[in-house]
Amino acid sequence: MTRRKIIITRRLPPAVEERAVRDYDAILNEKDRIIPMDELLAMADGMDALLICSSEKFNAAALARLPQSVKILSTFSVGLDHIDVPAAKARGVRVGNTPDAVTIATAEIAMLCMLGATRRAWEGQKMVRDRQWVGWHSTQLLGRRLSNKKLGIFGMGKIGQAVAKRARAFDMEIHYHNRHRLTPQEEQGAIYHDSLNSLLSVSNVLSINSPSTPETQGMLNAAAIAKMPDGAIVVNTARGDLVVDEDLIAALKSGKIAYAGLDVYRGEPRINEGYYDLPNTFLLPHMGSGTVEARDEMGFAALDNIDAVLAGREPPYPVV
Ligand code: DGY
Repeated sequence: MTRRKIIITRRLPPAVEERAVRDYDAILNEKDRIIPMDELLAMADGMDALLICSSEKFNAAALARLPQSVKILSTFSVGLDHIDVPAAKARGVRVGNTPDAVTIATAEIAMLCMLGATRRAWEGQKMVRDRQWVGWHSTQLLGRRLSNKKLGIFGMGKIGQAVAKRARAFDMEIHYHNRHRLTPQEEQGAIYHDSLNSLLSVSNVLSINSPSTPETQGMLNAAAIAKMPDGAIVVNTARGDLVVDEDLIAALKSGKIAYAGLDVYRGEPRINEGYYDLPNTFLLPHMGSGTVEARDEMGFAALDNIDAVLAGREPPYPVV
């Protein structure tokens, strides 16, 4: 039987690539070069599936040129902001993502950002590494504890709920705003706010865990920040374009927002220059799902989606 052909657009973990070459004629990207879209579309001719990452931007124009041989775009991500999903649906190509695999790792990085921000971890690191630490003293790098603070979670899907679970262990009071109220079992005592403004008004710490959509983009702007308690903390592990960088930077400079812990940025990796010199930012390079466990699971889930569609079955993680 002829083997099906797939392209894996970026370097993936060894176990994932091993499975791919075992089961398919798989074109790998050993140098992990970002393949320009024109080149990728030319390579895709005759391929059965593409396993892509968020670096490949499948807008409507690219989807219109996607060869008919390609039956599924399987993305190695939970995020879908690099794919024009309605255009994919119109074109008739299936799209699958990896919604479960990233949950724990991303919730853990949200806790890291929360602690990194509230406990001034970057300033401490810098002091030690710059050999500027002259010794312990009682008012050195004082932060704030998480205990008894109100954590506002914007976006209470799987990741938001996983953040809530971890934050409960830090004795935080959980509040959330979501398109739909959760069931009492899912809420686990979390307090629902039917508007973003209501959530913002109580959030000592705001954790952004919502996907990027036209409705959520720019949700954290100057007007929203003004509603937050003075000295609040902002954590973003979702997508950079939910935040208006200039407004957050102004609030970090004025002290309205005491600290921000950020893993994602608009225009990453070229982030807003204003962040670099702010001492009250804890900045990570979009590493939310960056654990061995999550990246293996993401790859296997992406391959499961391809396996199913090419076998004429429904993919386990369908988007369209
Ligand atoms: C995701 O899964 O969406 C991660 O942010 C990687 O793009």
